[in-house]
Amino acid sequence: MQSSNAKAKVFVHAEGKEFHLTNGQVSYIVRVNAEGKLLQLYYGAAVSDRDDFGYLVEMQRRSTASCPVEGNLTYSLEHLRQEFPEYGTSDYRMPAISMAQANGSRITDFRFAGYRIGGGKPKLDGLPATYVDQENEAVTLSIDLFDAPTGVTATLKYTMFATLPVIARSVSLHNGGEKAVDIERLMSLSLDLPDDDYMFTQLTGSWARERSIVRSRLHPGIQQIGSLRGSASSHIHNPAIALARPETTESHGEVIGAAFVYSGNFEAHVEVDPFAVSRLQMGIADFGFTWHLDPGSSFQSPEVVFAYTSQGYNGMSHAFHDLVRRHLVRGPWRDKERPVLINNWEATYFDFDEKKLLSIAKQAQKLGVELFVLDDGWFGERHNDTAGLGDWTPNPERLPEGLKGLAQRINDMGMMFGLWFEPEMVNKDSDLYRAHPDWMLHTPGRRASHGRNEYVLDFTNPDVVDEIYRQMHAMLSTANIGYIKWDMNRYITEAFDVTRGAEHQGEVFHRYILGVYQLHERLLNAFPNLIIEGCASGGGRFDMGMLYYTPQIWTSDDTDAVERMSIQYGTSMFYPLSAMGSHVSIVPNHQTGREVSMNTRANVAMFGTFGYELDPAALSEKELKQVADDVAFFKRHRELIHQGDFYRLVSPFERDSRRNDSVAWMVVSADRTQAIVGDYRMLEHPMSPFTRLHLQGLDPSLRYRIQVRGGASTINGMTFGGDELMRIGMLSTDASASSSAEAGSANSLGNPHDFSSRLFILSAC
Ligand code: GLA
Repeated sequence: MQSSNAKAKVFVHAEGKEFHLTNGQVSYIVRVNAEGKLLQLYYGAAVSDRDDFGYLVEMQRRSTASCPVEGNLTYSLEHLRQEFPEYGTSDYRMPAISMAQANGSRITDFRFAGYRIGGGKPKLDGLPATYVDQENEAVTLSIDLFDAPTGVTATLKYTMFATLPVIARSVSLHNGGEKAVDIERLMSLSLDLPDDDYMFTQLTGSWARERSIVRSRLHPGIQQIGSLRGSASSHIHNPAIALARPETTESHGEVIGAAFVYSGNFEAHVEVDPFAVSRLQMGIADFGFTWHLDPGSSFQSPEVVFAYTSQGYNGMSHAFHDLVRRHLVRGPWRDKERPVLINNWEATYFDFDEKKLLSIAKQAQKLGVELFVLDDGWFGERHNDTAGLGDWTPNPERLPEGLKGLAQRINDMGMMFGLWFEPEMVNKDSDLYRAHPDWMLHTPGRRASHGRNEYVLDFTNPDVVDEIYRQMHAMLSTANIGYIKWDMNRYITEAFDVTRGAEHQGEVFHRYILGVYQLHERLLNAFPNLIIEGCASGGGRFDMGMLYYTPQIWTSDDTDAVERMSIQYGTSMFYPLSAMGSHVSIVPNHQTGREVSMNTRANVAMFGTFGYELDPAALSEKELKQVADDVAFFKRHRELIHQGDFYRLVSPFERDSRRNDSVAWMVVSADRTQAIVGDYRMLEHPMSPFTRLHLQGLDPSLRYRIQVRGGASTINGMTFGGDELMRIGMLSTDASASSSAEAGSANSLGNPHDFSSRLFILSAC
């Protein structure tokens, strides 16, 4: 039997006990055994279907095994690859579920109870999730597993996308029994792979240094990343990991990537067992988590999206980039060109009035900028970071004509107007706090920690979400505001839900994030044309959960172009350029003190949403001219940059002391007639080797003319075959004094040197 949907199909065999999901790119095969347990048989490159894949279940007597079935010494769950493993019934690895029952037991035995197959993809209530517009874009297999003593049903949902090598997986639990249970662990994905020959690849960092690529060999035992920060998923570890074969490069080799569509506490781990099976799990962090499930009620886990490719890390990135652009970001801004913006934060910090803002906007408009964003400081008594959060009305001294007046003036210049909010936070010095001290997340009788003088509002409480919605709705209704920057600048401490009882205290972090999602959803319903840019002290909440509501996210508070080369390179592993907020700021840079040319600052920021975060009055005439040129260049190419295929070429994380420290990447249009290569120098070294950049994604049968922007090159104006550029490589040796070792000779070309860069623009001719 076969249930098909365009290219995504589910073959059903063994009288409804074996399922083969495939779309011609990948296959995922699971099977129910005689005991009703759901086993994992295969995940990887697509294979042709056959009537029975049962031969893949290997049973063998292993002497120390615990065996659940009397008389059978070969059947142990410890030695089977499973889809929903449990602890305590002969498997000793980390389980996908743990559920405390009325008598205190945590033993469960979920067995197959039925399945459904449908076209498209059902929504996940209250949660961000990937979606399809048409039924034929995906097929969904739902498998029910039932634990008879408790009456709880677990439903595993698998959606295979028709044209991407991606599956979305989530789990829901329904308590059909008579007594409440407490869910203590529920992994959205649990995938047992047959070997351990992988590099665990993670994105790791901190504030202003987000998402460095770190790779380490899998080893026996558990390798884990996660976040317990409550409100922020990802300054430290991003909720996405990849397992790559050791020989995998950016362009070759097998990779399995998994990303969590969620912004709260998470864990992602791989457990390698004694037989080299690797159990990959991803879900809400179980530390501190419980969910009280009353009879008749259900709990839906967030979803994990996972991809398989044999085309290296770039291949994996393409799968996720397309997924985010087509099936996660929604609303009109999914398909519309994103505006080039100017933001006043680094230009003024808290020191501004309306006159200053209008002068920045006016000059920016002349340079071609399309959106003016007013950052922190416009509301309440917000003169510094100790006051005002929670009072979302304009400060009359700063904005005598209110938001309406300012927005009108900006609109009259022909620009959109955008506004900063930090909806989840409150200062003690605010009217909101004075009126509702209990609305701040705190544990009664204990000290409350702050972060940047801020306290976290209790978004588990619907009254709090209602009040913040009311205030934001009022602001968005009084003025023509087309964009908001939604900031979130601290982690949660002393978490406690003062409105609920003891049995619900393990729910606080999840309920908090559900409150955040709900506020986004309500605002987008009321203002569907609004573009929301996510932010959490820079890139502290850069995850697929937020991208469902905020099509772009401020990538990092570090605006230094050299630092951004690494941050954006790492971020691109899972997230497309259209999602990455990236601005040109002033030099010396405010985070690093580094001086980098305007050329390089723009050449880095253009591989993102692009904008400025400076006062144009501080620029020279020459720089202003360059800004106008850069903005015009970006607008000409933004469709290619945001919609094209992005390839990482030379990594800042694999530097080699013999050659110059370089970074390179490129984008190629879908029809492969246009491409832009970004080639960046970190540090220049004397007597460096001749270099060729092996381009990717071009059409080998087309010829491309190369135009160089922002620096010198001997190949400017020449044409080459796509095959030459990919197989021989594009000459990228520079003409610097240090490369030729003749001091004073070649730097007449002005390039390259520390922090220099060039763009190579390729057009098929
Ligand atoms: C955070 C953001 C910045 C800026 C400030 C304002 O740090 O990441 O971009 O908006 O807050 O306080």
